[in-house]
Amino acid sequence: MFRRPSGSPADRIAALRKELQRHVHRYYVLDEPSIPDSEYDKLFRELQALEAAHPDLVTPDSPTQRVGGKPLDQFASVRHKVPMLSIRTETDTEATGTKNFDARVRKELGLSESGPPVEYVAELKFDGLAVNLRYEDRVLVQAATRGDGEVGEDVTQNIRTIRQIPLQLPKEAPAVMEVRGEVYMRRPDFEALNERQREKMAQGAKGEKTFVNPRNAAAGSIRQLDPAIAAQRHLSFFAYGVGEITPQAEGGPVFETHFELLQTLKSWGFPVAAQTRTAKGAAELMAFYQAIGRKRDSLPYDIDGVVYKVNSLALQKKLGFVTREPRWAVAHKFPAQEQLTTVLGIDVQVGRTGKLTPVARLAPVFVGGVTVTNATLHNEDEARRKDVRVGDTVIVRRAGDVIPEVVSVLPEKRLPDALQFTMPRQCPVCGAAAVREEGEADYRCTGGLFCAAQRKEAILHYAHRRAVEIEGLGDKLVEQLVDASVVRTLPDLYKLDLSTLASLDRMAEKSANNLLEALEKSKQTTLPRFVFGLGIRHVGEATAKALASHFGKLDAIMDATEEQLLEVSDVGPIVAKSIRTFFEQAHNREVVEQLRACGVTWEEGEPAKRVPKPLTGKTFVITGTLPSLSRDEAKDRIEAAGGKVAGSVSRKTDYVVAGTEAGSKLAKAQELDVKVIDEAVLLAFLASPND
Ligand code: IVH
Repeated sequence: MFRRPSGSPADRIAALRKELQRHVHRYYVLDEPSIPDSEYDKLFRELQALEAAHPDLVTPDSPTQRVGGKPLDQFASVRHKVPMLSIRTETDTEATGTKNFDARVRKELGLSESGPPVEYVAELKFDGLAVNLRYEDRVLVQAATRGDGEVGEDVTQNIRTIRQIPLQLPKEAPAVMEVRGEVYMRRPDFEALNERQREKMAQGAKGEKTFVNPRNAAAGSIRQLDPAIAAQRHLSFFAYGVGEITPQAEGGPVFETHFELLQTLKSWGFPVAAQTRTAKGAAELMAFYQAIGRKRDSLPYDIDGVVYKVNSLALQKKLGFVTREPRWAVAHKFPAQEQLTTVLGIDVQVGRTGKLTPVARLAPVFVGGVTVTNATLHNEDEARRKDVRVGDTVIVRRAGDVIPEVVSVLPEKRLPDALQFTMPRQCPVCGAAAVREEGEADYRCTGGLFCAAQRKEAILHYAHRRAVEIEGLGDKLVEQLVDASVVRTLPDLYKLDLSTLASLDRMAEKSANNLLEALEKSKQTTLPRFVFGLGIRHVGEATAKALASHFGKLDAIMDATEEQLLEVSDVGPIVAKSIRTFFEQAHNREVVEQLRACGVTWEEGEPAKRVPKPLTGKTFVITGTLPSLSRDEAKDRIEAAGGKVAGSVSRKTDYVVAGTEAGSKLAKAQELDVKVIDEAVLLAFLASPND
């Protein structure tokens, strides 16, 4: 909706700010966006333009002031007007945990055991970093970390980037108002941040690292001297208390309970956790503890417990403090989500599709509510990055539904002779070669037809409708056949008999007979179906067809060199290598022979006439950004068409494929008089049988 700006620039600026603020609140706090992003951007740009034209009208509470600001050399110190206290911690996870607290409160207040229950507010204990937000004349003027409780650091610039935090309070708010709460990072934002950090590290960026957990990520981001970086970090906030407030009364809100106070903060735009509620007596507190404990894993952020606070502010005052802890509050902890343990060994597991995964075997440890005995190290690069070694003391983390993870090693506890982990070059299950292809993170077993770990997958693939096709041989049946050790490799299928089959679960004589018939029928197949059915990595249906028509006979495919394989249309270096490696595994060949011996046959033909691929003998260099193909796609397609792709331009280069922002390579091509083509010409080359 377009509204004509009316009145003075100052009026329009005020109106825009108000409207933007409303949208920001709906988007970031209520999760109910009211206008599309594009519309928001339009209003935002209008405000930016007006402020640029009238710099005297820029104020710190303008939505435009959330980003930007210059990097600091260091943070200034801030002395808190009202000290930021800590809370006494209760680690007893049984009902006594809440009974002890309630009994203490009652005793201090001189209440009899049989009197009415004390009312509390039950909150979540967020796992982040406490901050104090100071508003003067309803504008956010300063944000500080807790520090030692007396003196913290001024992190105003970074706090401004958190859109959930209002920059301005409504007119009924007191002249000085301090709001306290927790800055934290949601788990999805944490995962995304680490993913970006890993990418930067992979690209060789210096000084980048991944974060151990969302709390460290939040703390690291808030204590970041460059606000532009903090702005990219997606931090969140929950309010749970107040600091200095003046004047206390006189026309402003008068708070009698902590719960009212939280409701008021919520109405002013601060996020307050939806789970927050009042509870009477120890039993209701315990019910809250247990209910939240069950929900903990499904929350999108980490909590390490719950907090109980006496609701009445008058009673809070009466209870007062001991040292630096209020007598009116307690933190009731959940089992920790991070624990120390030792690495007993590192195993390598082989998945159904042949993927090798290093797994740390751990001394059993209770973490995040379950006993953990192993944790994935994902792949070779991750294992190296974390440098986990046998005998190491490590931090294990289990948060949310996420699988347990080794987050880091305690280097000071490492044994002097601990060896670095290396990925085996052979499959630990079947002994076939394990290979890692260029550009991939995982090692894979190449013994697909023989490897016990891949049996089920190999059989299902072979029996697939578009492969050799064995009607009625589905998931469940394969599961049973393999688990009962009736079928170990593909040829065993053809040795099945009626009595074995009929003895299986849910297998009547009729369906057993049907399966035997289907098996018999499958013996008469075609070469492309058979080749596809072998489940060679990167050999799909189309490639299997191309191989069959090029070579005519299975033996010719099995014995083809990489160079010969490269002559097949659509076969590039990666596919050629994969086929070669597969048939180099003696066990795979054995299975093929056995299948033939079982009577699996197909018609063989003559090899096709050799048609050179369109780009055989040509060398290309790719530079700049191509309009539709990514660099990898362009490389794959040139290679599959018989061409080579080089990294730098020389006299041997036949063509330079140039996109936008092509740099020195283009200049070099011109200098050496090498032909320069664009993507369209390349695509035409790829399509034509000869260039
Ligand atoms: S109230 C007087 N409420 O726990 C009590 N603290 O040791 C002051 N925390 O550093 C704190 N969730 O960062 C309070 N709902 C909650 C909380 C909470 C997390 C943290 C806070 C502080 C620590 C207290």
